[in-house]
Amino acid sequence: MAVRNTSNISTIALLLSIILSCPVIVFTQNTPLFACNTDQDPTLNNYTFCDATLDIKTRVDDLISRLTLQEKIGNLVHDASSIDHLGIPGYKWWSEALHGVSNVGPATHFSDLVPGATSFPQVILTAASFNKTLFKAIGKAVSTEARAMYNLGLSGLTYWSPNVNIFRDPRWGRGQETPGEDPVLASEYAVNYVRGLQERDDGDENRLKVAAACKHYTAYDVDAWEGVDRFHFNAKVTKQDMEDTYQPPFKSCVLDGNVASVMCSYNEVNGKPTCGDPDLLKRVIRGEWKLNGYISSDCDSLETMFNSHHSAESPEQVAADALNAGLDLNCGNWLRMNTMGAVEGGLVEESVVDQAVSNNFATLMRLGFFDGDPSKQMYGNLGPEDVCTPSHQKLAREAARQGIVLLKNAFNSLPLSPNAITSLAIIGPNANATTAMIGNYAGIPCKYTTPLQGLSESVETVYHAGCSDTMCGHAQLKEATDVAAKADAVVLVMGTDQSIEAESRDRTSISLPGQQNRLISEVASVSKGPVILVIMSGSGMDIQFAKENPKITSVLWVGFPGEAGGGALADVIFGRYNPGGRLPMTWYPQFFAETVNMTNMNMRPDPTTGHPGYTYRFYRGTMVYPFGYGLSYSAFVQWVVRAPKLVKLPPTESPTIGVGDGNCRNLGFDVVIGVKNVGRVAGDYSVLLISYPPWTANTPQTQLLDFEKVFLAPQEVRLVRFKVDGCRHLSVVDEYGNRNVALGQHVLQVGDATHYLYLET
Ligand SMILES: *[C@@H]1O[C@H](CO)[C@@H](O)[C@H](O)[C@H]1NC(C)=O
Ligand SMILES: *[C@@H]1O[C@H](CO)[C@@H](O)[C@H](O)[C@H]1NC(C)=O
Ligand SMILES: *[C@@H]1O[C@H](CO)[C@@H](O)[C@H](O)[C@H]1NC(C)=O
Ligand SMILES: *[C@@H]1O[C@H](CO)[C@@H](O)[C@H](O)[C@H]1NC(C)=O
Repeated sequence: MAVRNTSNISTIALLLSIILSCPVIVFTQNTPLFACNTDQDPTLNNYTFCDATLDIKTRVDDLISRLTLQEKIGNLVHDASSIDHLGIPGYKWWSEALHGVSNVGPATHFSDLVPGATSFPQVILTAASFNKTLFKAIGKAVSTEARAMYNLGLSGLTYWSPNVNIFRDPRWGRGQETPGEDPVLASEYAVNYVRGLQERDDGDENRLKVAAACKHYTAYDVDAWEGVDRFHFNAKVTKQDMEDTYQPPFKSCVLDGNVASVMCSYNEVNGKPTCGDPDLLKRVIRGEWKLNGYISSDCDSLETMFNSHHSAESPEQVAADALNAGLDLNCGNWLRMNTMGAVEGGLVEESVVDQAVSNNFATLMRLGFFDGDPSKQMYGNLGPEDVCTPSHQKLAREAARQGIVLLKNAFNSLPLSPNAITSLAIIGPNANATTAMIGNYAGIPCKYTTPLQGLSESVETVYHAGCSDTMCGHAQLKEATDVAAKADAVVLVMGTDQSIEAESRDRTSISLPGQQNRLISEVASVSKGPVILVIMSGSGMDIQFAKENPKITSVLWVGFPGEAGGGALADVIFGRYNPGGRLPMTWYPQFFAETVNMTNMNMRPDPTTGHPGYTYRFYRGTMVYPFGYGLSYSAFVQWVVRAPKLVKLPPTESPTIGVGDGNCRNLGFDVVIGVKNVGRVAGDYSVLLISYPPWTANTPQTQLLDFEKVFLAPQEVRLVRFKVDGCRHLSVVDEYGNRNVALGQHVLQVGDATHYLYLET
């Protein structure tokens, strides 16, 4: 049997390959899948669920009433089953678009029609731009390409992006995917990227261009470290850390971003797998935040619940627990296999299945999947010419430019003048990087501009990799120093790639890999002109040695800068763009990695254990570079133009006002900041408004309140207005997880300017 099957398959495969090799016949499927194809089958017009003029709930209720339990169950999983008698094709839920349409999800393919999609910088670099408009603009470009690919049958409508977990520990291999360590920055990124993906040009909020998903809910930031992996990890999180660090990006994503989905994670939180926790899913996401959409599991989270967390005795009980907790869609097959048994065994009511599958179908209806031929709908005319457009590729380069962070620039040695350079040495394992530039969850880019290619467009270059790969086991010191010694200036492009930091790969060291430090120092010592060290990485590095070495005149961090990274880097090095990126995460010393246990989820320092705490909000140790750090070729001064000195609150007995109990109201005021470019070149500056709350037990030492990026010509002055909501922005979370505003002195700060604000009753 098996043998005959195999030979049949290979015969078919052979026939197919003969047909496919014939250039005239293109076998690529180039029409989208959709339901309610009334052109082909007019009887479908009879169904209420196909009537696009009706509201979504009426349509979903009608559809559910026509389904058997088996059919419903087939639509609880990512590879959903077709319902042939109703003209509903199977739908593949899993597409990804972290920083461009990606083929990591099995619903997306590139083809002869669309060989690639625009690959924007990895998210950590985009976050460094501190530009909300940019976050949204990228989302919008990505959703246009996604919708075009859907029209060609190459992609889905539901995208499991963005990743908004807090980048707590510098060793996390997936930190690169996130918007960094700060809850306010991560929240703003989530809201703007999701809106860019989802919002339609007609402004109809109940309809979706594509559906986004904020993941991985929640407190997920350990992949694989010292024998601990994400499938077994139990994140022990205090109520205080949960409310003021881990949850805010998800809360904003749902409440302010109106996201269509939240994905629960692999790990446990306080002993319970997230995908089976009714408190986290039903009570918080549905109840408090009122998600309009579906809750999905991570891929095989339910299998993990059973096999790794041993959360229940039987597979059916795991299925029932997840559904009863509020899960709607399972990436994997667990619910397909085990839901029937769970219902028959009385472990879950069919009404719970109905609710879950209704949430899934409602999302597809908001996407137009049940409205018939997509080519007759909004976005139906998008096609191959809308992917990798010149304007999208320009935005990819622009995003990288806006994110790149200038960390050091002694003697103003940057920018280089191309006319003054007769020979530029380009050295390092990432000097001619291609795939390293696009990081993980990437697709196939439109094209690459490597650092070497970008820099070679302006000057004569000589190149040597210096190490065979980023691990740099053996630096080729002689060859590299020979090249460097002859050049007018040297650019060293070092750092990491996915072999060092990736999904399922956390780091143990936070220094540059292998012999990279040695290569850098030896090259610098023989160089006769400026030495520019470029760190390409998704996370912070201990480069204290380079910071201190006077021969290394400049340092740039370029994240994983996307397909156009080399062009953007050249723009910065030659001064065609004045860098204004600021670090979205703290750069810790190597000592940190050697002493801090990565599984310690406590954000706050603990003197009894010696835990130094995490991120600029809590960490009290030495740093290589702090959060928010970033230089410019110009200089900016800031001052407080207007802010209240006194804010009056209603009378209260206690020294704090609870935000949750309705007492905290009308605490809104404006803070106006002046910013002036006092240098000689135009440039972007991100104004970061920081607050220091009055100290109560375990409050953050400081927190980002809001930010705004502005462009300033030389000597130009601009006023930036922040709308402060005191209840939201000035509050801190107590040890019970409640948010309160403390009475007393709050300090606001921008740059060197401070302002004292008193909250009184
Ligand atoms: C459905 O529509 C077709 C024509 O569009 C009509 O002939 C038929 O009677 C309708 N009813 C059902 C139950 O199919
Ligand atoms: C740099 O990379 C590009 C793209 O992969 C390749 O075509 C080129 O040959 C490489 N250049 C050198 C000098 O290795
Ligand atoms: C980290 O902490 C956990 C929990 O206290 C402990 O079990 C584990 O052995 C520690 N790991 C290392 C590498 O120190
Ligand atoms: C922010 O990004 C948008 C979109 O790329 C851009 O138009 C704008 O100029 C940027 N703002 C600044 C101050 O650079």
